[in-house]
Amino acid sequence: MDLGRIINSVHPPQFEENLSSMFDVKPMSGALGAEVVGVNLKTVSEEQAKEIERLLVNHMVVVFRDQHLEASDLSRFGKMLGEPEPHQFWEGSEDYPEVFELYSEGKKAVHYGSNWHTDLTCSEQPPKLSILCGVKIPPTGGDTLFCNLHLAFESLSETYKKMIIDLNGIHKSGFQVDTKSGFNEEGAGDKLKTQTTVTHPLICQHEVTKKNLLLANRIFTKGIEGLSKQESQGILDYLIAHSNRPEFTCRVNWKPGTVTIWDNRATAHYALGDFLGHERLMRRITIKGNKPQRGKLG
Ligand code: SIN
Repeated sequence: MDLGRIINSVHPPQFEENLSSMFDVKPMSGALGAEVVGVNLKTVSEEQAKEIERLLVNHMVVVFRDQHLEASDLSRFGKMLGEPEPHQFWEGSEDYPEVFELYSEGKKAVHYGSNWHTDLTCSEQPPKLSILCGVKIPPTGGDTLFCNLHLAFESLSETYKKMIIDLNGIHKSGFQVDTKSGFNEEGAGDKLKTQTTVTHPLICQHEVTKKNLLLANRIFTKGIEGLSKQESQGILDYLIAHSNRPEFTCRVNWKPGTVTIWDNRATAHYALGDFLGHERLMRRITIKGNKPQRGKLG
């Protein structure tokens, strides 16, 4: 009887090397993430956009430096990667409603996104990807952590995988939103625009790679269908803490002009709120995705 199996977080680098002949690609960790050098996102061609999508599926998070994209640039680039959609919570800009700004004035102890989440899993069709540009960045802090949800799945024991393969997570948008200063559990209730509750399989399959991944996060996943609150909590607490083990992460350090794109189908992220006393302004566009599909074992 195997009583002592330790969870195996040791893994080889999770990307195919030298995938691009078009750009210089520098992986950021063994788990996910790569910096891509040699492209101007303001003038990106169809061919380059396809290469970026390929790199995104391979590395899950791709980072570009010195880009300084205005809303019009972001709208153009976003449309090359899919169908931009207005955000469920944040107001878009007047001319480009699909582009919005995320501002932290640095005066509150709460910073939006400061907990592990995959964007908008509280919707039937969570975004396929998000593109985020650094506009005003604190002198220190304000990094974003990302984790690889495929690794989170793969490193579970076969018995645990079998135990959760048929379960569905309940995802709710039940937090309060303040479009100027971010969101928090108690904050500006009247600004909450829509409340949604949906279910998604706990184990999903990536629509491109067909690889399994674990879909559960702190902000939106509030229970498991058919289980009591306590039963759900035990499983979710374990799975979410497991999914962001340090070995499964990478960290993006922002500068004004840094652009990061993440594959929202395969990752979760955490925006660090360690810059109290300083402003942080980001510009973002979100690309429409499909309903997550249940993964398959064996
Ligand atoms: C987010 O939490 O969705 C945005 C991440 C960030 O601002 O770093």
